Amino acid sequence: MLNASLTTDPGAVVAPVHRRTFGSFVEHMGRCVYTGLYEPDHPTADADGFRRDVADLVRELGVTTVRYPGGNFVSGYRWEDGVGPKADRPVRRELAWHSLETNQFGLNEFMTWCRRLGIEPMMAVNLGTRGLQEALDLLEYANHPGGTRLSDLRAAHGHPEPHDIRMWCLGNEMDGPWQIGHLDARSYGRKAARVARAMRMADRDLELVVCGSSGSSMPTFGSWEATVLEETYDAVSHISLHAYYEEHDGDLASFLGSVTDMDHFIDSVVATADAVGARLRDPKRIQLSFDEWNVWYLSRFQEQAAVQPTDDWRVAPRVIEDRYNVADAVVVGNMLISLLRHGDRVTAASQAQLANVIAPIMTEPGGPAWRQTIFHPFALTARSAVGRVVRADVTAPVQDTARYGEVPVVDAALTHDPDCGTAALFIVNRSVDQPVTLGADLRGLRAEKVTEALTLSDPDTYATNTADQPDRVTPSANEDVRLEDGRLTAVLPPVSWSVVTLSTDRG
Ligand code: AHR
Repeated sequence: MLNASLTTDPGAVVAPVHRRTFGSFVEHMGRCVYTGLYEPDHPTADADGFRRDVADLVRELGVTTVRYPGGNFVSGYRWEDGVGPKADRPVRRELAWHSLETNQFGLNEFMTWCRRLGIEPMMAVNLGTRGLQEALDLLEYANHPGGTRLSDLRAAHGHPEPHDIRMWCLGNEMDGPWQIGHLDARSYGRKAARVARAMRMADRDLELVVCGSSGSSMPTFGSWEATVLEETYDAVSHISLHAYYEEHDGDLASFLGSVTDMDHFIDSVVATADAVGARLRDPKRIQLSFDEWNVWYLSRFQEQAAVQPTDDWRVAPRVIEDRYNVADAVVVGNMLISLLRHGDRVTAASQAQLANVIAPIMTEPGGPAWRQTIFHPFALTARSAVGRVVRADVTAPVQDTARYGEVPVVDAALTHDPDCGTAALFIVNRSVDQPVTLGADLRGLRAEKVTEALTLSDPDTYATNTADQPDRVTPSANEDVRLEDGRLTAVLPPVSWSVVTLSTDRG
């Protein structure tokens, strides 16, 4: 048994808990849209063809924003194909994922679905095969109240009210050689700046997200951000970050330590953005939109893609339908801890993706929908993290990892809502084999009572949920959590994620 401690200074407020931290991502990729969100023939489908069973799970997940329609998909997308009478919509070849796009689901279906679920949309424009004019047309169609050709067209398509989309991504992963229309940093920065300035001529309050690096291991990481921000600093509010982690070659310790990279990635982008701001003598602070993050067994996908035939164009093929285990859920929970801890600069995030494609929600066509293991830390964090993030300093033994050196076995984030008198502590034990007893001094919060203590762990680290056993892995009550005189003690099993919610004195 290892021992760790946590102290907090409730006066040291890191940031408000941004509701946009709990965003997700819907791409026209594989079965995310078709047979995920949308399946008109499904027994639970509503009049619009949306699966009610999936919608219920999305509500339970607590998703606040959804980025749409890609992803790599957006870099070849013609938004006009997806609006108007469905019978007239063209079927197109989709190059990013090598499939057929029927366009039966498009902007208006997406907006109807979002509004029904109380979700804020986050729209991406195509800066791969397209550019300024198409972005302006889309903005006019989506947001202009009426009396212009494209806003009247929207009304004629059954949507008289403007969609009023506030957040827009200026393309996707334009640093990646795999991206349709990939550009070098200077060319992309100039293109994005032109688009951003023109979009803001239509609506100066739009929040615009410029593409950062597709990952911290990109060869251009750092210089890409600096160059792109030099060109766009005045016109954008956010820069994006994307990160996916996986367990490589059975190296569980490194995998569990993945947030070491995520923390460093965030800190580096903040430093780079602020350095550009200083050079430009601009007091504005660029915010970070971590708009793709998750566990993704990318190397398996790359191996399969290398041997895949290129002549089988299919509608909604099964692509990257990763089945998540207990360790994956712990890493996802830890990534949420990192996002909360960086709330002073990371003000939006989107887990990639929402259904079927590296997703917390799985479905079968015509069949059930169920929660993957990673569903649980997301749903519980989205539900329990309220108020503000306060500093939580952890002292813990370290675990040696091949990728990141020594990594503390415990990581945590703490939120507090003094007005409601609630607090939530999110904790991971990243030890591959040792339980940890955590002692947390919460007297500063005037913690009174543990209201709930849940832990996700399993003797089988690789256990998964399936259609037949959808609840094989779920969080359960942790009976080894106690609070006495504001001091909390919790026993945390190895490879575990936990949440402890507390009531606190409001006086
Ligand atoms: O989420 C899957 C893919 O990962 C997205 O399309 C792309 O942006 C990223 O590389």
